[in-house]
Amino acid sequence: MEYKELNSKNNIPALGFGTWQLKPIKEAYNSVASALEKGYRHIDTAHIYFNEGSVGKAVQDSKIKREDIFITTKLWNWDHKKVEEAYQKSLKKLKVDYIDLYLIHFPVSKTRIDAWKAMETIYKEKRVKSIGVSNFTIKHLEELMSKTDIVPAVNQVEFHPFLYQKDLLDFCNKHGIALEAYSPLSHGKRLDDHTLQDIASAHKKTVAQVMIRWSLQHGNIVIPKSRNPGRIKQNFEVFDFELSEIEMTSINSLNENYRTCWDPTDTV
Ligand SMILES: NC(=O)c1ccc[n+]([C@@H]2O[C@H](COP(=O)([O-])OP(=O)(O)OC[C@H]3O[C@@H](n4cnc5c(N)ncnc54)[C@H](OP(=O)(O)O)[C@@H]3O)[C@@H](O)[C@H]2O)c1
Repeated sequence: MEYKELNSKNNIPALGFGTWQLKPIKEAYNSVASALEKGYRHIDTAHIYFNEGSVGKAVQDSKIKREDIFITTKLWNWDHKKVEEAYQKSLKKLKVDYIDLYLIHFPVSKTRIDAWKAMETIYKEKRVKSIGVSNFTIKHLEELMSKTDIVPAVNQVEFHPFLYQKDLLDFCNKHGIALEAYSPLSHGKRLDDHTLQDIASAHKKTVAQVMIRWSLQHGNIVIPKSRNPGRIKQNFEVFDFELSEIEMTSINSLNENYRTCWDPTDTV
């Protein structure tokens, strides 16, 4: 497993396990248990996934030491004015006494700056290891950095070969913000692409593994999700091959600004 150092000086496993749409209780519990058993040590959840309880139970039952598992959860849009209360609820559901990474889930207009200041307080009191944002554009990040003290450790955004957000990645690199790639498999929608299929067969790998590898080689933190034990294992086996510069360039050129999730670009 590769780790990346965040600007908070905490280390994050570069490959994590996504949990959106894993239903509580059984499906989320079993999938997270399977991921931990296969070696994942980084789990990404959110209040709005309604599965923090199942994630917490799977982590607890794994008997893996708390400090060896990196847990991310997110502040939901309706909680921007009650951050402390929302944080406490997430801690309780996850059955932990700190979160490794707490993110603003979406850059809600008008409330995001005050929500961030409340998160800064939790961070300054050392009750959360790192704080970050999600779905922030360059404009949102510039505004945040001009009005608050702490530069986000992470910006978690949709990022895959069909949504290669190069400008945002360059901006994040310049400011020491780690880019975390969500929906790295294009939410499963573009696994039939011929360029990716050819590159995958050349490496005796799958298209999913090539998509994850491409993102890792861009320096991203990557969080694929699966409910299937075989695919959970497959998505973890991405550290035994490397894409060439030519292959990277060819995958970069697949970009078509294709979004599978929400689009924050018009959020003022
Ligand atoms: N911050 C945000 O706003 C935000 C938004 C979206 C996602 N996220 C995070 O990012 C994580 C990943 O994104 P995502 O869940 O949207 O999509 P994803 O990881 O890009 O793709 C998941 C889809 O691909 C399928 N899949 C997984 N591995 C596969 C493989 N090896 N071969 C073929 N198909 C495979 C899955 O089906 P099976 O489950 O049946 O395998 C599922 O349909 C989420 O779970 C969540 O934690 C965050």
